[in-house]
Amino acid sequence: MTLQGKVALVTGGSRGIGQQVCLRLAAMGAMVGINYVSNEAAAKQTLALIEQTGGKGFFAPFDVADSERAQERIREITDAHESVDILVNNAGITRDGLMARMKDAEWDAVLDTNLKGAYICSKAVMKGMMKKRWGRIINMTSVVGFLGNAGQVNYASAKAGLVGLTKSMARELASRSITVNCVAPGYIVTDMTSNLSAEIREALIKQIPLGTLGQPQDVAAAVAFLASPESGYMTGQTLHVNGGMYMGN
Ligand SMILES: NC(=O)c1ccc[n+]([C@@H]2O[C@H](COP(=O)([O-])OP(=O)(O)OC[C@H]3O[C@@H](n4cnc5c(N)ncnc54)[C@H](OP(=O)(O)O)[C@@H]3O)[C@@H](O)[C@H]2O)c1
Repeated sequence: MTLQGKVALVTGGSRGIGQQVCLRLAAMGAMVGINYVSNEAAAKQTLALIEQTGGKGFFAPFDVADSERAQERIREITDAHESVDILVNNAGITRDGLMARMKDAEWDAVLDTNLKGAYICSKAVMKGMMKKRWGRIINMTSVVGFLGNAGQVNYASAKAGLVGLTKSMARELASRSITVNCVAPGYIVTDMTSNLSAEIREALIKQIPLGTLGQPQDVAAAVAFLASPESGYMTGQTLHVNGGMYMGN
């Protein structure tokens, strides 16, 4: 129970990877804020799962790309729970299509949620962390940010951008013992990847040395480590969780 007494906020905590991150952090003793944008039923299920195992959590619905609303909600959370000690910027969306046909709105939506959302939420929690001289910020990037992907210029740009955000924040916040790191999943079985055709799935699996898509729990384990006191000497790094699909850094 290494996170006893800590408060965590997980954006996009209602489903998929975020849900497993919530369960894992709650199992480690953290009080977990479950952020989501619209799927209240899924958020309720996440909280029920946390409580079934004796953990504690609360709902934190807001759109991470809506700066005013996000700041307001995070202020309320900080007032109610003293501080946010751990922030997991996990909320993400895709709007895929080849660049030649991509609409500006599809570019903007993906950059706003995946990259600007992380900037907005991090900025809102960092003052409290600086005061406490302790904090953990974990940004959910993607293997696609490192490899690129045809049909995902918006998503790959946002995910690569998160790496630059992470490294710069890590340098700005290190003197206050706040670490900022990324987790970069490969292809993980969630709603986001549920519409891949059997053919694409087979082709992907051929590129994965461990021979299978990942599970949300595989990613949550890496987040749990980066959230823990044990990772205190790591900052500005990316942990790759991709079955060996990409081995660079
Ligand atoms: N699945 C993969 O293969 C994979 C691979 C690499 C990286 N990732 C990254 O991992 C993260 C989680 O992916 P996932 O597969 O678990 O996705 P998912 O199953 O599609 O869930 C997305 C989550 O993000 C929330 N969300 C979306 N837009 C939001 C917004 N504007 N404000 C607040 N919350 C918002 C959703 O809330 P609602 O439930 O309310 O809609 C949901 O909780 C994303 O950043 C994704 O890019 C995923």
